[in-house]
Amino acid sequence: MLFLFLFLAAVQVPLSTAMLFGPSLFCFSVIGQRQADLLSNLFLEGIGLFGCDEYMLFSSLPAEELFKNSMSAHPTWPTSGPVVHLLSHSVDMPLSMAAVREVWHRVSEDGRYKRFNWILKMDPETVFHPDRLRDILSLHCSHSDCDAMALQNGEVIPGAMQALTKAAVAKLAKNQLDDCEDEAADSADAEVQCLQKSLHKSDVKLVKEPSLFKDFSTSHSMRICTLSLGSFWPFLAWPDYMTCMGQAGYSVQPDAPSNPSQVSWTRDVLQQGYYVRPTMFCWVLVQHKGEEPELLKWQRQRDLGIFACDGWMIVSNASAREVLPAEAWHTHISIIHGNTTGGRTFRTVHGKLISEPADAGVYAKAWEAVFEEGSYRSFDWVLKLDVGVVVVPERLRSALNALCQPSACGSKIVHNFGGDLLGPVEAMSAKAASTMAAGMHTCTTAAKWEMQPEYRWLSSCVSTLGIGAVRSALLLSDHKALPRPCDTVHGCFSPFMNLGYHALCLKQSGYYYIAPPPTTTLTRTSTSTSVTSTSATFTTSTVSTTTVTSTVPKVAPMSIFAFEGRSFQKKLPVWVITAENEQRGIPFALEIGAALLAMIAIPSLGCMLCRRSAAPAATSRDEPQDTAEALLTGPAGQAGGV
Ligand SMILES: *[C@@H]1O[C@H](CO)[C@@H](O)[C@H](O)[C@H]1NC(C)=O
Ligand SMILES: *[C@@H]1O[C@H](CO)[C@@H](O)[C@H](O)[C@H]1NC(C)=O
Repeated sequence: MLFLFLFLAAVQVPLSTAMLFGPSLFCFSVIGQRQADLLSNLFLEGIGLFGCDEYMLFSSLPAEELFKNSMSAHPTWPTSGPVVHLLSHSVDMPLSMAAVREVWHRVSEDGRYKRFNWILKMDPETVFHPDRLRDILSLHCSHSDCDAMALQNGEVIPGAMQALTKAAVAKLAKNQLDDCEDEAADSADAEVQCLQKSLHKSDVKLVKEPSLFKDFSTSHSMRICTLSLGSFWPFLAWPDYMTCMGQAGYSVQPDAPSNPSQVSWTRDVLQQGYYVRPTMFCWVLVQHKGEEPELLKWQRQRDLGIFACDGWMIVSNASAREVLPAEAWHTHISIIHGNTTGGRTFRTVHGKLISEPADAGVYAKAWEAVFEEGSYRSFDWVLKLDVGVVVVPERLRSALNALCQPSACGSKIVHNFGGDLLGPVEAMSAKAASTMAAGMHTCTTAAKWEMQPEYRWLSSCVSTLGIGAVRSALLLSDHKALPRPCDTVHGCFSPFMNLGYHALCLKQSGYYYIAPPPTTTLTRTSTSTSVTSTSATFTTSTVSTTTVTSTVPKVAPMSIFAFEGRSFQKKLPVWVITAENEQRGIPFALEIGAALLAMIAIPSLGCMLCRRSAAPAATSRDEPQDTAEALLTGPAGQAGGV
């Protein structure tokens, strides 16, 4: 089996990050006052242009003015609200050519777009499911070196969804839309005509993609947003927007008749030791009794929650025997001494007194335990999760991947909800974790530091230590304030302490449970001949046969991997799909074929193997190189493990 996996690893076609997660998206929009309410809802839900890997938002009104309705409900806005770039031109619709030029100029000047495959200028009223859109875009280009092209729906580029590759934007930036006449600007499609003209002049290919966009503005029939199209327009009212989002596959209805294109994810069967980067190390602080151990046990048995990450660690003040008796044989708990709950603290928000747990002291101990144990260093990201967090590993990984290149991440912590850092999913880069490990003492000196909720303590700790913050709308969907179905876009959902709701949320995110991998019985018979000399002339030989029978899983039951529809499966390494095929009754054909090939390949692998085993333990902990192959390798130490 090892040979098989090594073989498959060796023949893997080089995969780029973009191929695993779909093409990356940089989105920008111009908004006016009338779209402000929609925008604040999109921001809190983490969808729309906030669901892209990076965004820029332009307006002629400052954020204070735009979001004045939302600011009463969100006191930290505009600082932690959507970032708005102020334009000098008015944004009255239709946009004047001067405003359009200014926006494109600002985007190219900003330069962030260069890190992404596709640049999308969209109307805020455009609905899209990021995965669908990525699927459609990936047909045209998913590598970092795409041609300069722009997509047309039919004969024209749709004004509300202008999709250009970064090469196209770079060419356009030189040209700057300068020779469009300003007089033509007051018609709604003047912008698109000008863009087409400039693209043509800049030698950018215009490619037809009928699935890119659906315009409902001129349609008199019912507006139904199907799973097969990339985007839909216009949806200004929030309930309409969400209805369209729902139809586009935002949330899975667990018991609906199965839809072939329904997004789904299931168990990962990656062989232990092979990781897709960025790798994630997740840890949890669990109470010694009550509902937390109950839920953790359930997750342990299914490789969910923290167990879905590439490495994991449990911290508690009691041993596994006490906390998880049924799973203690393969679950290690790092013990901290003292209480695992703190007292309560109070503060006033909008004149109301709210009570919060004062658990900074407890979590400081837990972080110290994580730092001391040290296996977090072998991973790209370190995440503290709550027990009640529903984790969709592949989407979580993809959200982290959008923030930085695994090997060049620097010291970062993720503000996971709008501009804030919420406690359930605290993600920091490995470098940030090391910085924090070294600087812990400076975080535990302020007066009454222990009397804070842990997320607030962590937030001030990391900013004292100079760890930078990045925002991600895709990391966490917060269901505390507003209960609603879980979706197929975010990486984590919180809080779901109740087992029934936890399972329901999983299903809504597209999870279906595949029973633990079937086991197979291996019988190995070894024959040994021992030669005994009783005298100089007489020799007896005894033949003894030993039969060893062991039960081993046919596939490695490791963590969880997402199956994001058929087109996504094609991009997965072969060994991930084998288990799925088995479930569908495609018996081992692939494995047998691969095993035969492996037979041929074994000799050539011999050298690689001996190098592997000869390598000292220390080198096996090294970060894998950030080459395409390393994306799928990386013998990073399994932290929790057996
Ligand atoms: C643990 O909690 C109990 C009850 O809340 C308290 O009396 C005790 O002092 C705490 N122990 C520590 C070490 O903080
Ligand atoms: C563990 O923490 C809990 C909750 O704070 C506390 O009640 C319990 O006494 C602690 N156990 C030990 C052994 O300290």
